[in-house]
Amino acid sequence: MTEQQSADVRIIGTGLYTPPGAITNEELVESFNAYVDQYNDRFADDIAAGRIAALEKSSADFIEKASGIKARYTVDREGVLDINRMAPHIPARDNEEISVLAEIAVNAAREALRAADLTAADIDGVVCAASNMQRGYPAMAVEIQDALGIEGFGFDMNVACASAAFGIETGLGLIRAGARRILMVNPEICTAHLNFRDRDSHFIFGDVATAVILERADNPAQTESWEILGTRLLTKFSNNIRNNFGFMNHCERETGEAPDAQDTPNTDKLFIQEGRKVFKEVVPMVSEMINSHLNDIGVGANDVKRFWLHQANLSMNEFIARKVLGRDANREEAPVVLDEYANTSSAGSIIAFHKHRDGFSVGDIGVICAFGAGYSAGSVVVRKAS
Ligand code: COA
Repeated sequence: MTEQQSADVRIIGTGLYTPPGAITNEELVESFNAYVDQYNDRFADDIAAGRIAALEKSSADFIEKASGIKARYTVDREGVLDINRMAPHIPARDNEEISVLAEIAVNAAREALRAADLTAADIDGVVCAASNMQRGYPAMAVEIQDALGIEGFGFDMNVACASAAFGIETGLGLIRAGARRILMVNPEICTAHLNFRDRDSHFIFGDVATAVILERADNPAQTESWEILGTRLLTKFSNNIRNNFGFMNHCERETGEAPDAQDTPNTDKLFIQEGRKVFKEVVPMVSEMINSHLNDIGVGANDVKRFWLHQANLSMNEFIARKVLGRDANREEAPVVLDEYANTSSAGSIIAFHKHRDGFSVGDIGVICAFGAGYSAGSVVVRKAS
């Protein structure tokens, strides 16, 4: 937790990499429903005898109404839509080739470097802050650092959907400890940990990568810049959003508890949530965090021009903005990207900040706020400086 000291660190560039393959709700639902027909036909006898339940169909109308999501991008459309697979097909690469997660992060980082008019030589460290790392080690950040040609250091951190706020706070601390500039990236291939056979959640996530460059604010800014007025982090344990995938999964397989991938996917090792409970518990937690943070740094909620909120569910964001402002926020005050991108975990609030920060004058204030599994939440209050 850091309160407003002097605004000694600023954001000077952001980048976004969007995978080329978009999937609309209608396409996703068509594939899901074809899978449901196939499953129900295949197990018709068991269903008729009451031994197993028939699967129910999904609906594009429900998805848009319940979540605000209309589409998502993914690194592999075909694998996701193939009813005999229902997962992205991401072929393994040789160790000598750049990994997929590092590659999308590098794409976003290059855009951020261009925006800040910098080269790799200007960066001292890389923080890769995301929900799922492609491997245990070497750290993804070290591979990203190498691909960009950055001298210095890199490390990974994971605080689920709140990772970007925690990553900004970490970058800020590293700069206060002496680094000139930190590159913070959020590569998210969420479709690889989503259970596309689960009607309750098959529509939730998409893939993307974002990047943010932070620098010490002791020289005049050369490009657009945003002073960080304060950050606040919060975690509170909850089982309501989980992903139990981890390095010990192969041990379970040896004991014969492995999933039959086709019919009984081991959903425990993919994203699972109690969506209603998440909604109910996270809305007050986040709105109270933002309110107390703003209060502590002497900024009134109505002095905030824009809230770049984590993008998980439209009504959740509307509720949070309403609780913070005491009135409804319009789309300009709380921009929405989840209609196009779906939930992109740690990247959501940064996509919103990247795409919707026009119309700010020097001195205008905004809040980047990320939240999710853990529970975890973080707010970053920024003021346009140049
Ligand atoms: N198509 C059609 N109907 C569906 C459906 C689908 N894909 N999925 C669920 N339904 C049905 C349910 O069976 C239920 O039917 P019932 O009322 O007859 O029992 C009904 O729709 C409502 O389901 P529910 O799961 O309660 O919906 P919801 O309104 O809570 O919306 C979420 C679901 C996931 C969109 C919502 O809970 C949410 O976004 N929560 C917060 C999630 C979040 O932020 N997670 C953080 C991840 S980082």
